[in-house]
This record gives sequence, C-alpha cells and structure tokens, in this order.
Amino acid sequence: MALRALILGAAAGGGLPQWNCNGANSAGFWGRGDRLSPATQSSLAVSVRDGEWVVLNASPDIRAQIMARPQLQPRDPAAHGLRDTPIAAVVLTNGDIDHIAGLLTLREKQRFDLWTTPVIADILRANPIFDALDPTCVARREIGLDAPFEPVPGLTLELFATPGKTPLFLEGAAGDAVQTDVEGEQTVGVRLSDGTREAFYVPGCARMTPALAARLRGAALAFFDGTVFHDDEMIRAGVGHKTGKRMGHMAMAGPDGSLAAFADLDVKRKIFVHMNNTNPVWRKDSAERAEVEAAGWEIAHDGLEVTP
Ligand code: MLT
Ligand code: MN
Repeated sequence: MALRALILGAAAGGGLPQWNCNGANSAGFWGRGDRLSPATQSSLAVSVRDGEWVVLNASPDIRAQIMARPQLQPRDPAAHGLRDTPIAAVVLTNGDIDHIAGLLTLREKQRFDLWTTPVIADILRANPIFDALDPTCVARREIGLDAPFEPVPGLTLELFATPGKTPLFLEGAAGDAVQTDVEGEQTVGVRLSDGTREAFYVPGCARMTPALAARLRGAALAFFDGTVFHDDEMIRAGVGHKTGKRMGHMAMAGPDGSLAAFADLDVKRKIFVHMNNTNPVWRKDSAERAEVEAAGWEIAHDGLEVTP
C-alpha cells in the first residue's frame, strides 16, 4: 500500500519533439543534429496497489503512454473481463489541451471517475465534444480546493490553488491582457498521500506564493513545473513570441524562478516535469542541465517511477 508515482509524459504541450518544430531539441528527430530521447505530453500516474492507478491529467498521448506502460494495460480477462483498465480515476489540474484532450481517447464505454474542480468541470461542460464520455460510464466528480478525497481506497488527494491562467483556447480577445497568475480553481496542484508518505504534483505554476512555499516546505517529493529554463527562451530560440510568464509558467532560472524559490524549502526530492521542447535541460550535456542538477533537481523522463 505504498505510494508510487509513474511519469507517463514528462514534456509540456507539444511533446518532444513537437510535430512542427525545427528548434535545436526537435530537429534531431527529423534527421538534423543529434537525437534526444523523445517525451510525451504531461501526465503522472499514481498508485498504492498493483492493478489500480489514478492518472493525473489525460494527455493527448495517453494511448501511446498506455502502450508503453504495462502497468496501465488491461488486466487478465479471466478476472477482469474483455473490456478492462487499471485506470480507476482521472484527475485534472487545469483545462489545458495537453491535460484534457486524452479524455477523448478514453471514450470507449469504460467506467472510471473523472475528478475536477467545479471551474474545470465547467470548461469540460462547455465543450460538447466531451459528452463523448458516456455519463453512465464516466462519473464526473467535482471537488473543491483544500478538500481531501480518496479516488481509490488508500490514496488521498487534495487539490490546492496554484497561480495560473485560463486555457489558451479560452483566452479569446483578451490577448496579452489576460491575467496569467490567477489563484483559484482553474489551475491546481495535487497533494498525494498514502497515509504515511506524501508527494506533491504541480505541473503548472506561474509564481511561488508564500502559501505554496509553506505547503511544500520539507516535503519528501515534489514534481514541479519545468516548462522553460529561461523566461524568454522561446523568443531567444526564435520559435515563438511568448515568455514563460505569458503562458502562466515560472521559469527555472532568474530571481523569480523555481531554482531560487526552492533553494531554502528543504524538499528532499525535486523533479521537474512539463518541460517545453525548447527547454535546454533536455540536453544532458547542457550548462542549464548542470545548473539544475547542481541545485538538487532531477529532470523527469517518460517511464520514471518514483516512491517518496
Ligand atoms: C501550457 O501549459 O501553457 C499549455 O498547455 C499550453 C498549450 O495549451 O499548448
Ligand atoms: Mn501544459
């Protein structure tokens, strides 16, 4: 009954490589330059017992993630029948495409619980394509902030607000006026506990707040937003015009970055997740990779299994 976490996808939206990108980290996949290990889009599976998993964020790559991880594949038909999954529940941390689009892959009349905050539930309700999830199979469960719940027996989760922004597809005409660090039900982190061990999963965070720092202080394990190393890295790389901040993500580097924010938090094991394909830390020989490792961080990869 010990908490286990399995990285299904270590990359941010787009994955590594991104399908249309010739940037330094992606070009090697198209035969130009050295080829890195690929990474699928943002998702973490957690479990306290064999054959029963909770998936945090349903990435557009969830089918490939299931193909790659025997733990998530249908169990023995003699015991579980012809249609089966060990995925008992899905929990969403925001309404972004990289975290919700995989729900459409899970539409094949399979029973599971879908846990979200009321605000994220509204985003799904406003998109009729998600009605493809038959309500007689998929139970939509709404849960407020700071309220512990047990998606499967023995595994307690709690959602808490992290600064973030509305999904890109809902920004509408707001453009650069959109608030990128709203604290509420639309972007959340997750505390995970098996009663003895705990871990935190925060794949999206626009800035460190005193409340978040207090929550994370002394934790055994934290998976944290590693979207960009430099706030202006997409601009520097010439592949986009947005900063990390504009996308609702704090950078790793800089005075407001996660390396600085965690420096005195005494988190025992710190693992970056949700890395954008532009992030230089994907390269094991980069100066940026050396810098995060010197600060005690690990860079997640698909298939990494961790126990706190
Ligand atoms: C993000 O994390 O900023 C979003 O997933 C971006 C996107 O929607 O592609
Ligand atoms: Mn994302």
